[in-house]
Amino acid sequence: MTLTPVLTAHWDEADCYTIDGYRRHGGYDQVAKGFQMGPDALIQLVKDSGLRGRGGAGFPTGMKWGFVPQGDGKAHYLVVNADESEPGACKDIPLMLANPHALIEGCILTSYAIRANWAFIYVRGEVPHVHRRLRAAVREAYAAGLLGTDIQGSGFDLDLVVHAGAGAYICGEETALLDSLEGRRGQPRLKPPFPAVAGLYASPTVVNNVETIANVPYIVRNGADWLTQWGTEKSPGFKLMSVSGHVRRPGVYEVALGTTMRQLLEYAGGMRHGGEPKFWLPGGSSVPMLTAEHLDLPLTYEDMAAAGTMLGTATPMVFDDTVSVVKAITRWLEFYKHESCGKCTPCREGTGWIAGTLGRFEAGQGTEAELGMLEELCAQIMGRSFCALGDAAATPFPAAFKHFRSEWLAGTHTPADQAFDPVAATVLAAGATR
Ligand SMILES: Cc1cc2nc3c(=O)[nH]c(=O)nc-3n(C[C@H](O)[C@H](O)[C@H](O)COP(=O)(O)O)c2cc1C
Ligand code: SF4
Repeated sequence: MTLTPVLTAHWDEADCYTIDGYRRHGGYDQVAKGFQMGPDALIQLVKDSGLRGRGGAGFPTGMKWGFVPQGDGKAHYLVVNADESEPGACKDIPLMLANPHALIEGCILTSYAIRANWAFIYVRGEVPHVHRRLRAAVREAYAAGLLGTDIQGSGFDLDLVVHAGAGAYICGEETALLDSLEGRRGQPRLKPPFPAVAGLYASPTVVNNVETIANVPYIVRNGADWLTQWGTEKSPGFKLMSVSGHVRRPGVYEVALGTTMRQLLEYAGGMRHGGEPKFWLPGGSSVPMLTAEHLDLPLTYEDMAAAGTMLGTATPMVFDDTVSVVKAITRWLEFYKHESCGKCTPCREGTGWIAGTLGRFEAGQGTEAELGMLEELCAQIMGRSFCALGDAAATPFPAAFKHFRSEWLAGTHTPADQAFDPVAATVLAAGATR
């Protein structure tokens, strides 16, 4: 059994999102423990646990905290990235709805460790219910003396601000998020300097994902070895994996890293009409697709990289054979074209060119020469864009072409909706059997 209910352990309790519900299971006990340990020991603990960032890149969390200069006399900040905009990703939003106090306790411990007296949670503005819930939880924490001045007589002060973004995918990129938080148009900044050295208001700033920070209280409670009992040496711990698409029970499954997609599919009830997926993406639309032949690979950072893709946010999207790969990829590229911030030429121009060319294949009007052009375009954008959004946009086509060449060739004469009848697919989805 690889299900590991930690963050999700009490989501079925009616008051799980309240401070009383959280405290009933030992919530906020770790604040005093953390204060007793001291900032440096907390950073070391998280380093020892091997926790890797849950926002997509999997950067080691303790190492990131260790980059914050100490004794520099500057204000330090913690910024929680709660923008969750990746197509297919749906794990931070349920976590904040069901367990907001784990995030707040994680903010207290992390801020104390990096010596920050201000923390911000940047949540996407399109989810007002999450914004409301977070603000209510923050009010409860202030009222309980867990936020504000001299927390629990420790002499440590922390103010926590919940900020609603205006809704742009690029504002999930950490430096664009910081610009947006400062009140400017959200566009990525040149790195280095990295936020840990010059972030919010040019001061040392740790930017971490919601799930990363929510892990911290549990590590403080149980120790570094507790986390490493799951997963692999390079990918320790457990992970919220949101499974979406053509499965019987889409949802958030909290499992040990290293669980295979086949096991995850079993938890999700299997494919809606049985059989195996036509294609699936382990971490949202920004990672190369895999096929049924990859179902037995462990879902770890290293195994996904070896298979030519990425674990990303570990939010698999699963598609059955009613779906045209050409049509799916075209929708994603239209998304990237729309969300490109326009700062650099390869992405601003390239996303439009790719989306337009894909659209011709979707209409059955592509040419074989354009397939070569698409490959060249993606190669030109990959690694040459100012931020990773450009790379993400250049990612879907090459893998889709590699695995489903014949569908792209069909796109030179047959519209995708003719090859894959969307009406028939809707009838199937409504429960008809084949
Ligand atoms: C276009 C783009 C969108 C991103 N969106 C998110 C997001 O919604 N949430 C998130 O945590 N990280 C997102 N990231 C990654 C962040 O830049 C950053 O790596 C992450 O917040 C670091 O947190 P972690 O170390 O805890 O993973 C995005 C990156 C890019 C390039
Ligand atoms: S890659 Fe795209 S999103 Fe990133 S800076 Fe360039 S134009 Fe903006």
